[in-house]
Amino acid sequence: MTSERVRWGVVGTGGIAATFTADLELGETGRVVAVGSRSAEAAARFGDELAVANRHSSYESLVGDPEVDVVYVATPHPMHHAHALLALAAGKPVLVEKPFTMDAREARELVGAARSRGLFLMEAMWTRFLPHVVEIRSILASGELGEIVSVRADHGQWFAKDAAFRLFAPELGGGALLDLGIYPVSFASMVLGTPDRVAAMADPAFTGVDAQTSMLLGHASGAHAILTCTLRAKSPTRAAIVGTLGRIEIDGDFYAPSAFSVVMRDGTSRRVERPHDGRGLRHQADEVARCLRAGLLESPVMPLDETVSIMETMDEVRAQAALAPRS
Ligand SMILES: NC(=O)c1ccc[n+]([C@@H]2O[C@H](COP(=O)([O-])OP(=O)(O)OC[C@H]3O[C@@H](n4cnc5c(N)ncnc54)[C@H](OP(=O)(O)O)[C@@H]3O)[C@@H](O)[C@H]2O)c1
Repeated sequence: MTSERVRWGVVGTGGIAATFTADLELGETGRVVAVGSRSAEAAARFGDELAVANRHSSYESLVGDPEVDVVYVATPHPMHHAHALLALAAGKPVLVEKPFTMDAREARELVGAARSRGLFLMEAMWTRFLPHVVEIRSILASGELGEIVSVRADHGQWFAKDAAFRLFAPELGGGALLDLGIYPVSFASMVLGTPDRVAAMADPAFTGVDAQTSMLLGHASGAHAILTCTLRAKSPTRAAIVGTLGRIEIDGDFYAPSAFSVVMRDGTSRRVERPHDGRGLRHQADEVARCLRAGLLESPVMPLDETVSIMETMDEVRAQAALAPRS
């Protein structure tokens, strides 16, 4: 890295690529300097709208840009594996949108490729880096809640029926679990670690992808995670961590910048609010910048082995829910 801010190159010109690019401007650690698209027109439009100087009409050209320090993969999930590999092969560190890959096999391959090349790699699970979630981890570490008995989290959004829309289209990785369910599953993993039991149920949308999936995860400690996701309705999108001494209740949308209450067993409570600007995507970029400057090859907050374990849990959920396995 030659400049003060980390210089990002973005693969794809869709919704989250634009949000990420705009959010970075609110911080001080990085800036998007290059964008790559399958078409010159889309790259030019993105560059004009978001003041990104280097526009590439192919992803190959983007990852080869010498002015790019780190690549952000913001394409649909079935393409994450190939596009992250492309960037790693070009010698670039990579941040990959959630879900990291379509399944655990792809995740293991990406992690192996990064480790064998000595390159940084991270799943863009932005929720982990939000100020309220940082505070929640510190409360958990303090032991204030006692032993954790359960995690409850849900993520439901309503989408108009459209077979071509990414969330309904099987070829674009559609379905509630991969797009929305990843948040509750990752949240439970952060609090409870890897489950040793998984039970799940799913029902299909009109295109055959899962419209909603409900999950029960069991842990060696006896703790349970009760997790749900749907693309049929906007749900409360709240989460709770329940301990023997007290609990944390996070307001909806728990996965985005939010606030929470700590409610103790005796009924006393306090509110924790963290002022926030932007959509919340820049905190993960701050972590990438910090890791790159420190010479780390992965983030201790979102480690690669945990990303793989989360994808294994997602695979098991799909198997339990009898959704067709992809590979
Ligand atoms: N962190 C978050 O809050 C958040 C929110 C939304 C989505 N996401 C994740 O980010 C990823 C992208 O989601 P999005 O909502 O930004 O998607 P989107 O608006 O559909 O954009 C995806 C982009 O990927 C590129 N692309 C490459 N191959 C494609 C293909 N075969 N079909 C369609 N597009 C293709 C396109 O860019 P070019 O045409 O320019 O090449 C397109 O603009 C998903 O994995 C999703 O889960 C994360």
